[in-house]
Amino acid sequence: MAGKIPRNFIDDLLARTDIVELIDSKVGLKKAGKDYQACCPFHNEKSPSFTVSQDKQFYHCFGCGANGNAISFVMEYDKLEFVDAIEELASLMNLDVPREQGTSSGPERTAEQKRSDYDLMLHAARFYQHQLKHHSNSATVIDYVKGRGLTGETVKKFMIGYAPSEWEGLCQQLGRNKEQKEQLVELKLASEKTPGRQFDFFRDRLMFPIRDKRGRVIAFGGRVMQADQGPKYLNSPETRIFHKGFELYGLYEAKQAHKKLDHVLIVEGYMDVVALSEQGIEYAVAALGTATTAEHMHTLFRTTDKVICCYDGDRAGRDAAWRALENALPYLSDGKALQFVFLPDGEDPDSLVQQEGKEAFEVRLAQADDFTKVLFNKLSLEIDLTTDAGKAKLLSAVLPLVEKIPSEFYQENLLEHLGRLIGRTKEQLNNRLKTPKQQHSIERKFKITPMRRAIGLLVQHPQLASTVPYLPDLAQMNIAGIALLIRLQHDALQKAPLTTAQLLESFREAPEYEALIKLATWQHEINEDRLEDEFKNTFKFIEDQCLNYRLETLLIKDKTQGLNSDERLECHLLTQALKGTNN
Ligand code: UTP
Ligand code: MN
Repeated sequence: MAGKIPRNFIDDLLARTDIVELIDSKVGLKKAGKDYQACCPFHNEKSPSFTVSQDKQFYHCFGCGANGNAISFVMEYDKLEFVDAIEELASLMNLDVPREQGTSSGPERTAEQKRSDYDLMLHAARFYQHQLKHHSNSATVIDYVKGRGLTGETVKKFMIGYAPSEWEGLCQQLGRNKEQKEQLVELKLASEKTPGRQFDFFRDRLMFPIRDKRGRVIAFGGRVMQADQGPKYLNSPETRIFHKGFELYGLYEAKQAHKKLDHVLIVEGYMDVVALSEQGIEYAVAALGTATTAEHMHTLFRTTDKVICCYDGDRAGRDAAWRALENALPYLSDGKALQFVFLPDGEDPDSLVQQEGKEAFEVRLAQADDFTKVLFNKLSLEIDLTTDAGKAKLLSAVLPLVEKIPSEFYQENLLEHLGRLIGRTKEQLNNRLKTPKQQHSIERKFKITPMRRAIGLLVQHPQLASTVPYLPDLAQMNIAGIALLIRLQHDALQKAPLTTAQLLESFREAPEYEALIKLATWQHEINEDRLEDEFKNTFKFIEDQCLNYRLETLLIKDKTQGLNSDERLECHLLTQALKGTNN
């Protein structure tokens, strides 16, 4: 794995990016007063409630609550992970993303080398594409492709190609010198049985390039076209740019086909994805011959609100469904849906969609089972619910699953269902959860306390940092939020001038991030010319609170253990300082 991206680079990237320009290029913005507006790209609406602030370098939708800085926007809009979003923004500015040294194992690869890895994979894909049309076996291969119901358009969309039957087709073309040959071996496009003699890894196979979320070719799957020629599919082993458990075949193509993916269908095979697309169902993806992992689910639920898993109706299919279900639970927040379709015996999506067509296949999807049904079906098959022992067993099987789900709505649903099966009320069951649900609802009420007011104003207007004294010692006080306030002030002072977006960026992974985001978008309705006074007053209030607290601590110590001379002096100074503010 590559090292961390240095914090400075991220700050710099945010400083160079103009969020208005960025969002305007993707969504189209209209000026509205000081800010810019558009219809929100993250939910459907007719009148614009999506606002972008040039000062704060921050966007916020009053309709759906989406918000963040340029990095967040690229993550949400282009459906990228954090690191990919950074790379994307950097590439818009023609910058290379540096990495910190030291944390990684193995020799660090430079951005230059990495680029050439992706370059090489792309060249390989192009070579296979070319062979599909021009190799002497071309006619047979094209017959096979047509026989599987694929048109040229789909073949092109998925960059499907043909790995020639010769031992050194690709190696001769792309392995012109020692370095290139080594790279071919490292990327598993070539094998080397005896040192210095490389030969093609894929031979005489129909080639499916696997692309990552950004569309870069990172691996291949190759299918035999005649029986007795080895395993049906040969897949690229893991390499430095290919990590199976993270990638989904067809996801890039699906994202290209839809501006917003309403749902994604998980199927088992390459051919299923391609055949569905051929029939106009352009939202299917496949795990690469592995079970659906938690990483897959994470990626998918970042991309869409509804994931439909499509499996065989047989034992293996049911097992696969269960694994997918368990892996998906942690991502089921409100508004996310997980459903299952089980296919008739002996059919796969490829064969079915070709037989019955798009509409009939989509009817199956519309009738998919909700995950709740699949969950209870599976458990009640294994557990005898006519006995108390069975009921207890069901209870202890379901509760840990419920706890994994972030959505209260789904939690309640499952508890209700469970309650009916074992004769308990929802409330009784709720008490059995390790994290009782009430805790969530307290968080929902977000009162603007003085501390939140100070933090909120500072976050929204980082230039306020210099209008009050910098008192790092206050951070030691046992007062909620004070350490955060001081840290924000410190950052804002040190890196001034700073936008809201930059100030918040270093908190992205921190537990405070969500609260900070709320405060960054809180509508304070304080006039611009009153801002400074308002902040100073709030800050003074908090400072006094801290001093009072310190004074009390000292007075208690005085009574119990006595004070030393320094403390006595401090006590005296504090009393002086607080005079007049305390009553
Ligand atoms: P399937 O056997 O269902 O293949 O395997 P398929 O995609 O439907 O292909 P066709 O229709 O027979 O041509 C499902 C997936 O399992 C992996 C591949 O990812 C395949 O798409 N697999 C299967 C392998 O990796 N190796 C194999 O030998 C077989
Ligand atoms: Mn198949």
